Amino acid sequence: MTIVSGAGSAGIEQAAQRLAAGGLVALPTETVYGLAARADDDTAVAAIFAAKGRPADHPLIVHVRSRDEALGFAAGLNDAAERLIAAFWPGPVTVIVPRAPGRADAAAARLPTLALRCPAHPVARALLERCAQLGVPGLAAPSANRFGHVSPTTAQHVADELGDELLVLDGGACEHGIESAIVDCSGAAPALLRPGVVSRERLEQALGAALREPDERSPGAPGTLESHYAPRATLRLMSAAEVKSALQVLPASIQGLAVYSRSAPRRHPLVQVMPDDPRAVARELFAVLRAFDARGVKLIWVEQPPDTPEWEGVNDRLQRAAAH
Ligand code: TXA
Ligand code: MG
Repeated sequence: MTIVSGAGSAGIEQAAQRLAAGGLVALPTETVYGLAARADDDTAVAAIFAAKGRPADHPLIVHVRSRDEALGFAAGLNDAAERLIAAFWPGPVTVIVPRAPGRADAAAARLPTLALRCPAHPVARALLERCAQLGVPGLAAPSANRFGHVSPTTAQHVADELGDELLVLDGGACEHGIESAIVDCSGAAPALLRPGVVSRERLEQALGAALREPDERSPGAPGTLESHYAPRATLRLMSAAEVKSALQVLPASIQGLAVYSRSAPRRHPLVQVMPDDPRAVARELFAVLRAFDARGVKLIWVEQPPDTPEWEGVNDRLQRAAAH
């Protein structure tokens, strides 16, 4: 087993040395766990794509310590990118910017743009800091799951998903539980490619402008793929009324079904109670779906949360999981 604590300097040192040498390390962030390689080493980055089973044309996010480090990868930062960075870094907002030629080619899937994020998790920050001392200018890191599957929010999820050989830095359960919001700042007006825990409203406040919808052809990859973030079980989104009436006619002992709901009877043996707070649901969502899979559940009924701004990130992940 190669889960090591990220709390002490020994784990950070081991991980940084491995990364500096071109190896892979899984690291905790405040959103989900990432699978990292040095961003300036295309061979190391290719190993991320192989480990995830990710198509080579799906670009990765490069994680940096600061705006200044981001400047090393970007062909300049426009007003939108500067505003988001000033308002939310370090934190769960990723910006897509024009890429400096020749930087992070493999991570960017050779696109002319690059996704940049500055994580807030103390273990991620300590690792980036030590990596920088070793001459590593940033870490390319997608979520540490097999392509298309739900993202891991604990070190054990990563080990379950990607195997024992991988070095996993343990930073506890992730605070937010769904991936960062992604804002494409490479065009004339910024577009929200993936909603996160920072609401559209707060992003727009910081931008001083409305976000536009992404174009069909934007290379959002999983951000534009319908089916993603999916458990192995089939997930069906239902209204509260549908869940309630279905539970009334079903035998409570039925096999292979689980219900994740805010309003179904709490004591019902099939029901896992969904919290009322969208941030609490985001935090536990992927762990709940994984636990259903681990129990051998074949069908998951999820009560559709309200179509309101504070639920946007959770609703986005549920819709993609249901499209599987
Ligand atoms: O919270 C997060 O963002 C986590 C943690 C580990 O930082 N990372 C993460 O990475 O979710 P990943 O690779 O699973 O998702 C990154 C998304 C993908 O949908 C990818 O297609 C999109 O960002 N992306 C990356 N570079 C892009 C680019 N240049 N243009 C458009 N989309 C891009
Ligand atoms: Mg992912």
